[in-house]
Amino acid sequence: MAEPLLDVDLLTVTFPTGYSGRPVAVVDGISFTLGPEKLALVGESGSGKSMTARALLGLVPAPGEVTAHRLALNGEDMQEFGPKDWTRVRGAALGLVLQDPRFALNPLHTVGRQVEEALVLHRRLSRAERRDRALAMLEAVGLPNPSAVYGLYPGQLSGGMGQRVMIAAMLIAEPKVLVADEPTSALDESLRRQILDLLAQLADEKRMGLLLISHDLQQVASFADRVLVMYRGRIVDRQAAADLAHSTHPYTRTLWSCRPSPATYGTRLPTLDRTELEGLR
Ligand SMILES: Nc1ncnc2c1ncn2[C@@H]1O[C@H](COP(=O)(O)OP(=O)(O)OP(=O)(O)O)[C@@H](O)[C@H]1O
Ligand SMILES: [Mg+2]
Repeated sequence: MAEPLLDVDLLTVTFPTGYSGRPVAVVDGISFTLGPEKLALVGESGSGKSMTARALLGLVPAPGEVTAHRLALNGEDMQEFGPKDWTRVRGAALGLVLQDPRFALNPLHTVGRQVEEALVLHRRLSRAERRDRALAMLEAVGLPNPSAVYGLYPGQLSGGMGQRVMIAAMLIAEPKVLVADEPTSALDESLRRQILDLLAQLADEKRMGLLLISHDLQQVASFADRVLVMYRGRIVDRQAAADLAHSTHPYTRTLWSCRPSPATYGTRLPTLDRTELEGLR
């Protein structure tokens, strides 16, 4: 069998003194593989989704500790990666779209420069070719008037525009694996659909592995091939997207029936029956 793009076995992220004052595993021994497919990671706020994304990119903040039985990108052992290896793969073979674009874009550099950065680092192209590709990518992510946006600074962008710029900056490098952490949270419904369609199209065409992190189980059901359901640092259910609606797992069923809205974004989902769920751990 071919090597998966991403091979994650018993990944754990521990904080020595968690918010509670004792060690906590915010990601607690999760395992999955990612091939050229669309895989979704879904769970309520605080379940460990973003920390998983960070661990996959070597970006867990101190004093967090990452351990794994295996963590491999295209067969390469990421646990052996030093800073040089991370620089080589990040933004090239491995892309990350962060939940909040405000922290991902450099306020001092224009949109054009940031979208082209991966091309400067990892491809040999003329200036004009780079610019053409950047403009095409800005257009593809639904930004109106790409040549005007190209010259703007992040401070001049709305949240939704910033998120699209960040997605353009990641996609332009044609990564083998893209981890997208709530990439559409700052966007309205129609744009959300457009960005997800673009991600899906690229995943299919370029045989990219896409790990999409989301709150919204119903949304990912129509988008992903497979879905991992995360609860308190663990993967408690895994389903083909087509079977999600029929999952018998109580947590999956609860997530399925309470669709988050912008008003509930970032808050605990209201209708979970915690006593029932405690038994699942
Ligand atoms: N620096 C830190 N030190 C200790 N614990 C942390 C730290 N950062 C995050 N956590 C904890 O890790 C857990 C998982 O956080 P994470 O951001 O991965 O959740 P999430 O599933 O992405 O939630 P959301 O849907 O709100 O984005 C949370 O309980 C959070 O409180
Ligand atoms: Mg998160």
